[in-house]
Amino acid sequence: MFLRDCWYVVAWSHEVPSQGLLARTVVGDALVLFRTQDGIVAALADRCCHRLAPLSRGRHEGDCLRCGYHGLLFDARGQCVEVPGMETVPPRLAVRSYPVVEHNRWVFVWMGDPARADRSLLPDNFSCDHPDWVYRPGYLHYEVPWQLIADNLLDFSHLSYVHEATLGGSRAIAQARPRIEPIERGLRIERAVHSVPAPPYYAALRTFDGAIDRWFNYDFLLPATLLMDSGGRVQGAAAGDPNHEVRLHSCQTLTPETESSTHYFFQQAHPRWLGNEKTTEGLYQGLVRAFEEDRAMIGAQYAAIGRGGDLSMMSLPMDAALLQFRRLVERELAREAAWLSGNGASAGLG
Ligand code: FES
Ligand SMILES: [Fe+2]
Repeated sequence: MFLRDCWYVVAWSHEVPSQGLLARTVVGDALVLFRTQDGIVAALADRCCHRLAPLSRGRHEGDCLRCGYHGLLFDARGQCVEVPGMETVPPRLAVRSYPVVEHNRWVFVWMGDPARADRSLLPDNFSCDHPDWVYRPGYLHYEVPWQLIADNLLDFSHLSYVHEATLGGSRAIAQARPRIEPIERGLRIERAVHSVPAPPYYAALRTFDGAIDRWFNYDFLLPATLLMDSGGRVQGAAAGDPNHEVRLHSCQTLTPETESSTHYFFQQAHPRWLGNEKTTEGLYQGLVRAFEEDRAMIGAQYAAIGRGGDLSMMSLPMDAALLQFRRLVERELAREAAWLSGNGASAGLG
């Protein structure tokens, strides 16, 4: 069961070529994406309505996509506009199309009722496309359900242990209790740690002689997007002092591919004043190294869960945010189900 009435990131903008096709599965639906000649991204069901061949095996022709099997031509709305050997095209020849928005270099797709697609629900991933912020885009494919990765992102106590040699560098992170506040469609989580060594990950950014104070302030929004202001500052230094501060903005999002696999799009941007291209690359490499640590741990956790037996988990204070977010998802799923049974089912949505 996935939420459908929401925007999922299906790709970084650069992954959808101006010529060619991109195949990607989102919440179990196989999609094919392409750009019209004016650059607008279209997303269609990746299954031809003729004999069900994947359209992603076809080719991009101008504003259309031609099925590679028997040559039906579909426009960006999924309507068939040409059938080889037929004078007219029956209107019922169509494949499903999905609403798409390109916003700050993320390509979002709406998987639910197109009539309910609401641009005001797009997250503010501003640092993905801002002249004052620099980053390198990242992507990881996970062979685990999205919830396990969301759990990880909702509890930074793991930084002290999983990321001891990268993002963490101090047990104080796990000891700190975050402030958790419900916000519209998500949670706001704020964690501060004082007088800790700079984490190894900061080496690409700044050298700090003494202890620093660190902060991790983020919103975690439905369906599963993290927007974070984080940083570290020499104790006693003024906020915004570029010689004594590291400041980062991160946008990360989870898009379920199937019940047991997930797309993870991420970036950690630094302000332009913080460094040069070498800084950006060092930050990216450090982040990838850390996220591989997460992937190894969460993959091992999923394998352990897969061994069956007693699967009850224990809830501890550090789980507060992830439990609250799981409840929020349950509520939204129930709300969608109620709406579908009242309206969408009769309209053939699902
Ligand atoms: S399966 Fe696509 S044209 Fe026949
Ligand atoms: Fe992590």
